[in-house]
Amino acid sequence: MPNHAPILPVDDASLEMAAELLRAGKLVAFPTETVYGLGADATNDRAVAAIYAAKGRPQFNPLIVHVADVGALDAYVEWNDNARLLAIQFWPGALTLVLPRKAGCKLSLLVSAGMDTVAVRIPSHLVAQKLLRQVGRPIAAPSANASGKLSPTTPLHVSESLGNKVDLILAGGKAQVGVESTVVNLTSQRPTILRPGGVTREQLEIVLGQVDVVEETTNPEILSPGMLASHYAPDQPLRLNATSVNDDEALLAFGSDYAIKGGKTRLNLSEQGDMNEAAANLFAMLRQLDKPDYRGIAVMPIPNIGLGVAINDRLKRAAVR
Ligand code: TXA
Ligand code: MG
Repeated sequence: MPNHAPILPVDDASLEMAAELLRAGKLVAFPTETVYGLGADATNDRAVAAIYAAKGRPQFNPLIVHVADVGALDAYVEWNDNARLLAIQFWPGALTLVLPRKAGCKLSLLVSAGMDTVAVRIPSHLVAQKLLRQVGRPIAAPSANASGKLSPTTPLHVSESLGNKVDLILAGGKAQVGVESTVVNLTSQRPTILRPGGVTREQLEIVLGQVDVVEETTNPEILSPGMLASHYAPDQPLRLNATSVNDDEALLAFGSDYAIKGGKTRLNLSEQGDMNEAAANLFAMLRQLDKPDYRGIAVMPIPNIGLGVAINDRLKRAAVR
């Protein structure tokens, strides 16, 4: 393990190096359209265990398995009609499906963290696609941040958080979606959103009809442990739905009509009030404002529609101490 992982721009040589490292059971951070992932060979127990160790992640939190195309999943999960419909509509893309695990499949049991389901996703990012094809194995990849910290949307974020714990960071620019994938459980009676994300409930309901949403919980024994109330935490406290800001606070604004005076530093998720832009900026701006010289971060209200649901979900978790 190098002291600090090299950050390499993507070309044939770095892709081949990344693929070889993954096949050898090493950890490689790579870009996806949602956030950067911390990848390991999902069929290799030791490699998957290394993910948990690098992130300092509780063992009960299962991992998403990434592949390049739908055909590559047949060996690992049981399909159903809803899964097929969603795969056609949203893959490759920011959607993760929880499906029954195929008995005796070659995935490490650790990716399921003791459950008989697997979360699977086909990312659309060109670099992720190329890497997955080149490795030729399923890749387990949580967001490439220390457990409980903000998800990384740039290679530098990864380097700051896990630079001495990964073997290589593939640099592919800023993640375009900026929030993680939507996780949908298709093993329950009705499709259930376990984590709001890049694909909205409205989009899912066009395909599936009514979709349930799991309410936030503090019980770790539940279906999706990532739903723990506190999960994406900056070091400084957040004050949500702020309509004023104190002199010793930083401000995360939204929209064009903010007239909040004072505050140390202000960043705007999207002056146009564009949810896509806001999601893409969310984690990077929270990081920028997360400095000990502020007493906290005041966050203006964000409309709870479309991608705003995922943004508010992450903010709410980030605000829990
Ligand atoms: O956009 C994303 O999903 C990123 C990129 C790298 O793909 N990955 C990501 O992974 O956010 P992670 O590990 O940070 O979050 C995975 C979420 C967690 O909330 C976890 O509890 C849930 O998916 N999950 C994973 N496997 C599950 C399973 N079998 N059943 C229920 N929930 C599962
Ligand atoms: Mg995460």
